[in-house]
Amino acid sequence: MFSFQDKVVLITGGSRGLGRAMSIGFAQAGAKVVIASRKIETCEALQKEISAAGGDALAVAAHMGNCEDLDHLIAATYEHYGRVDVLINNAAINIATRPLTEMNPEAFDKMYEVNLRGPWYLASRVAPRMAEQGGGAVINVLSVAGLKPPANMGFYASTKAGLEAMNKVMAQEWAPMKIRVNALALGTYHSDLVDTTIEQMPEYEQYMLGANLIKRLAESEEILHPIFYLAGESYTTGITLVADGGMLCK
Ligand SMILES: NC(=O)c1ccc[n+]([C@@H]2O[C@H](COP(=O)([O-])OP(=O)(O)OC[C@H]3O[C@@H](n4cnc5c(N)ncnc54)[C@H](OP(=O)(O)O)[C@@H]3O)[C@@H](O)[C@H]2O)c1
Repeated sequence: MFSFQDKVVLITGGSRGLGRAMSIGFAQAGAKVVIASRKIETCEALQKEISAAGGDALAVAAHMGNCEDLDHLIAATYEHYGRVDVLINNAAINIATRPLTEMNPEAFDKMYEVNLRGPWYLASRVAPRMAEQGGGAVINVLSVAGLKPPANMGFYASTKAGLEAMNKVMAQEWAPMKIRVNALALGTYHSDLVDTTIEQMPEYEQYMLGANLIKRLAESEEILHPIFYLAGESYTTGITLVADGGMLCK
């Protein structure tokens, strides 16, 4: 139903996990994909994989917590492709899963810089250029943890809740610029992050299975259904679409 032929899709954290599934999926759907993350080698390896399969991709190193890196990411993207049709704020970290009484200000600053300041900065610098080209779409990737915050996830949950608020403000401010802005709140998907956590803490998988209604973790490729919808349709803005296996309902 949706065509991404020759659309330019910029994906932060596009090298691994769900971002990798998105990069491959959009490239297979005909898009030109900008793969951004901290480690250029991982981005370049995926770029080569996509090119070898006949796709078109660009690899750029950028730390979401560093605004200069984000300026460079924007400059490199426009120099190479000349436009951005879809921006996906996907990269995020969760480096502190402990009670609030045990958290420190350094972890707070780092998580807020990467998970909230970075997505705001990148989107707000891309939006005026999207407007010049006639519009586009921004997707902010959230977690159900931001909508139903669990204990021991205070920093992560609040960065995602903050990004949801920012999503609604972006949607209002940028609708006149013909930019749709939507959020996608996820349950548990297989990704580098989740699979490593399960390896280190096997009980986590059982816990997550018990927390959803569908009784399985989603495969990373399943992210393409809601992402394609938000990227490709034309009359939805300001929403948070939830794809969580029924976690919010429990
Ligand atoms: N997987 C899930 O079950 C799940 C559930 C709810 C929400 N989410 C959300 O989905 C998104 C993707 O998660 P994931 O599970 O796919 O994560 P992941 O497997 O850990 O992959 C994270 C990606 O982001 C990049 N990244 C990490 N820190 C970065 C930084 N500071 N600057 C730039 N890039 C950075 C990583 O590459 P480098 O290491 O090279 O930087 C990697 O490409 C996140 O927003 C996460 O909160 C995931």
